[in-house]
Amino acid sequence: MSIQLKHRLSTPLRIGNKTISKRLILAPMSGLTHVAFRELVARYGGYGLLYTEMCSAKTVPHENRYVSPVFRWRDEELPELVCQIFGSEPGVMATAARRIEAEGFWGVDMNFGCSVAAICKRNCGAALLKTPDLAVEIVQAVRSAVSIPVIVKFRTGWEERKNNPGDLARRFEDAGADALIFHPRVAPDRRSRPPKWENIARVKQAVSIPVFGNGEVFCQADAEKMLAATGCDGIALGRIAVAKPWVFAQWTDGFEPDGEIHRKTIKQMLALLNQHYETVTAIRKFKKIAVYIAALFKYGHAFCKRLHNARDVSAIEAEADAFFDASPELAERPNMNLFR
Ligand SMILES: Cc1cc2nc3c(=O)[nH]c(=O)nc-3n(C[C@H](O)[C@H](O)[C@H](O)COP(=O)(O)O)c2cc1C
Repeated sequence: MSIQLKHRLSTPLRIGNKTISKRLILAPMSGLTHVAFRELVARYGGYGLLYTEMCSAKTVPHENRYVSPVFRWRDEELPELVCQIFGSEPGVMATAARRIEAEGFWGVDMNFGCSVAAICKRNCGAALLKTPDLAVEIVQAVRSAVSIPVIVKFRTGWEERKNNPGDLARRFEDAGADALIFHPRVAPDRRSRPPKWENIARVKQAVSIPVFGNGEVFCQADAEKMLAATGCDGIALGRIAVAKPWVFAQWTDGFEPDGEIHRKTIKQMLALLNQHYETVTAIRKFKKIAVYIAALFKYGHAFCKRLHNARDVSAIEAEADAFFDASPELAERPNMNLFR
């Protein structure tokens, strides 16, 4: 473990009117960062903030937290939990933010980065980067609606040549954002081409609020490189946190995983999903997470297929036991065909 990295990531950071104790945070991921997954991450700790999946700003004001698949939480996690919303109307986003503040969330985040067609078609997510004036108006509306920290998560732009992410970042700061999470890809890239970390440096230089870099940080050496190359204040981890829910504790608290950690993770994840969701939903959600765990191994593809074909919890556990009893070899980097 790098002592220097641990120290850097464990230096408190002021965001708006609050302070986080670790600069390593969970990035929001739809279908993955649900309440069950977050409970597993919370058992290990070591993070500064956790994130919900993206929630529709239109539905947030009327959601029942005990029924909603995404606007759902455990009370214990609220002091470090950010709720991410997507939408395209400033008034609607502000109303959702008010409910989020009233429920006691640590902060609210606006999704200006999702490039999935169903979201962009509605002029939400990364599509808002085509109309920066509207995106800025949304930030202003949310800012005036709440006093909890307001974060913007965004991409380089809709197209490479049209936007300077530094200009956009400055406009979000001027509109009242307290921090930025920046993923340096343009919308059509999804996650296929490598992220351009140099754009994180441009964003960092443009603003005085904290900037979290995001994109393909998979190991401690990557984290050190991103911090050194961009000067960013912290890092948001996406897929690697799904594969290794203990990664925050490992990098910031010195947690040492043993040889059984992956098998244990699979079994704990299944148990937690069953606790929070109906069996069918729990198994469906588990299979989404399993892809990222399998991606860590040399022959992860075959393992992934076997997990997907398993019909119930005991069949999944039997597949996991068979795989881990054979002491599988870890890959040097996650398998990017699975890590999508
Ligand atoms: C399955 C999946 C779902 C995602 N959903 C969201 C989302 O709802 N909101 C968002 O802002 N970003 C979303 N992202 C993007 C991640 O937050 C992150 O920016 C991206 O995965 C790059 O970080 P990484 O290389 O550390 O995974 C999603 C990513 C994945 C893989």
